[in-house]
Amino acid sequence: MRVFLTGASGWIGSAVVPDLLASGHHVVGLARSASSASALTSIGATAHPGSLDDLDSLRAGAAQSDGVIHLAYRHDLVFSGEATLAAESDLLAIEALGSALEGSDRPFVVATGLGGLPVGRVATEKDEASVERAGGQRAAAAKVTLGFADQRVRSAVVRLPPSVHGSGDTGF
Ligand SMILES: NC(=O)c1ccc[n+]([C@@H]2O[C@H](COP(=O)([O-])OP(=O)(O)OC[C@H]3O[C@@H](n4cnc5c(N)ncnc54)[C@H](OP(=O)(O)O)[C@@H]3O)[C@@H](O)[C@H]2O)c1
Repeated sequence: MRVFLTGASGWIGSAVVPDLLASGHHVVGLARSASSASALTSIGATAHPGSLDDLDSLRAGAAQSDGVIHLAYRHDLVFSGEATLAAESDLLAIEALGSALEGSDRPFVVATGLGGLPVGRVATEKDEASVERAGGQRAAAAKVTLGFADQRVRSAVVRLPPSVHGSGDTGF
């Protein structure tokens, strides 16, 4: 498969991309800088120039793929106290990526966190995140992602725990 990834150069992308390559897939990663592009090409992936703010670049990457994994996130905004802006940017990116896949039955996997889930009991796959709950800024994006299933997109949300640590983790 030709898999288009956003955030391929990030922490989780650095684990996902080698796995995809080792499984024989062609990986195309969104790259907003020369250094991110070079990190991708040095391990055998292809760089797709663009950014989260360039929705045309996202649509083009998705349209030319057999499936999309969306990992990029404006953590710079989160860490500067603008978590709502980061979530709004993410929502726009997801709408652009998902709309390019409509009617195709292609997979669309989006990473998110655990914020906005019920607290005080074990949460399951059946629980939806809510903007009304603590840390729920990303709930709308998760809902929109899953809603693409009605448009013949095989969409899925992966909820990662608050810190996915390991050697080389720089963000959290
Ligand atoms: N790691 C965790 O503990 C954890 C926990 C819960 C949820 N998550 C979620 O999982 C996803 C991946 O997280 P991560 O830890 O891999 O994040 P990360 O290491 O911070 O990587 C972020 C990626 O997003 C890209 N990016 C940021 N701003 C961009 C922009 N404006 N345009 C294009 N690309 C941009 C970065 O590109 P550059 O390389 O060019 O900077 C990088 O590839 C995110 O949605 C994150 O919130 C992570």
